[in-house]
Amino acid sequence: SSLPDFLLILDLSSRPQLFDFHGVGMIPIFTANWENVQNFQARPDDIVIATYPKAGTTWVSQILDLLYFGKTSPERLTSLPIYERVPFLEMTIPNLVSGKDQADKLPTTPRLIKTHFPVQFVPKSFWEQNCRMIYVARNAKDNMVSYYHFDLMNNAQPVAGDWNSYFQRFMEGDMVFGPWYDHVNGWWKKKQTHSNIHYMFYEDMIEDTGREIEKLCSFIGLSPSAEEKEMIKTGVQFDNMKKNKMTNYSTLPVMDFQVSPFMRKGKVGDWKNYFTVAQNEEFDEDYKRKMKDPTLHFRCEL
Ligand code: A3P
Repeated sequence: SSLPDFLLILDLSSRPQLFDFHGVGMIPIFTANWENVQNFQARPDDIVIATYPKAGTTWVSQILDLLYFGKTSPERLTSLPIYERVPFLEMTIPNLVSGKDQADKLPTTPRLIKTHFPVQFVPKSFWEQNCRMIYVARNAKDNMVSYYHFDLMNNAQPVAGDWNSYFQRFMEGDMVFGPWYDHVNGWWKKKQTHSNIHYMFYEDMIEDTGREIEKLCSFIGLSPSAEEKEMIKTGVQFDNMKKNKMTNYSTLPVMDFQVSPFMRKGKVGDWKNYFTVAQNEEFDEDYKRKMKDPTLHFRCEL
């Protein structure tokens, strides 16, 4: 892969600017290959992992990769970083990196493909081929705190600014991949008409990883042995994924782990260490106005 090469050339001192793209906040690395990405040719057995950034993408990607290939090609898991095993479809650096090309060339069956697209941006071929899609959602408060730290440490993201301004911008939806509110609701609504979407919650995974792996297995039609499931459960524990160079993103110099590690806390409720009492009240008021669907419920603590 050419990913490390581009990172050496990328100007780490200049942060990209957010711009409006079909009504969604975006940065060039996610729109540069728009036509090709939209024309992506899916296969019926492709598995899409869709999330709002920082909702647990890497966690679920590693679980799925272990479920499918942990036994048949364990060397893949120990020699390739997660972003090569599970290409990020829309990630593009012209002439250097194309998640779309990486996905095209994936040698595995099925292909595991990651996207942060809001549901209306998903290439139509995935719907035509009726692909299985796994959506992971995380409560807005923890998602915001995680995204804030990510924007602080990832030089490929727009400037994070201070916490108070970030808090306001998150509520306004001025984030890469748009408002959290639209993202989680859009995918939730789509699930009503598309039976091949499995909608998961980060908080459920924290509460009982084994149970959520079980549900994933029945969605994708796999029945691993009890022993295999136990190995996967252990392998994907936060501390193990944090230590694992193939899952912890330490191989990407664009991320400054001195500022904050990619595997940061892995908890439910860390928002309480950042939200002031006044911010929490303001947030809850605004949340009620934006989240009208009583069937979509998030837990901000366990
Ligand atoms: P925090 O910043 O709250 O720690 P994504 O993979 O979508 O970018 O999400 C990253 C978030 O998921 C980070 O949250 C990260 O620590 C958390 N995470 C990653 N692997 C995890 C695991 N195995 N268990 C719990 N949380 C995990």
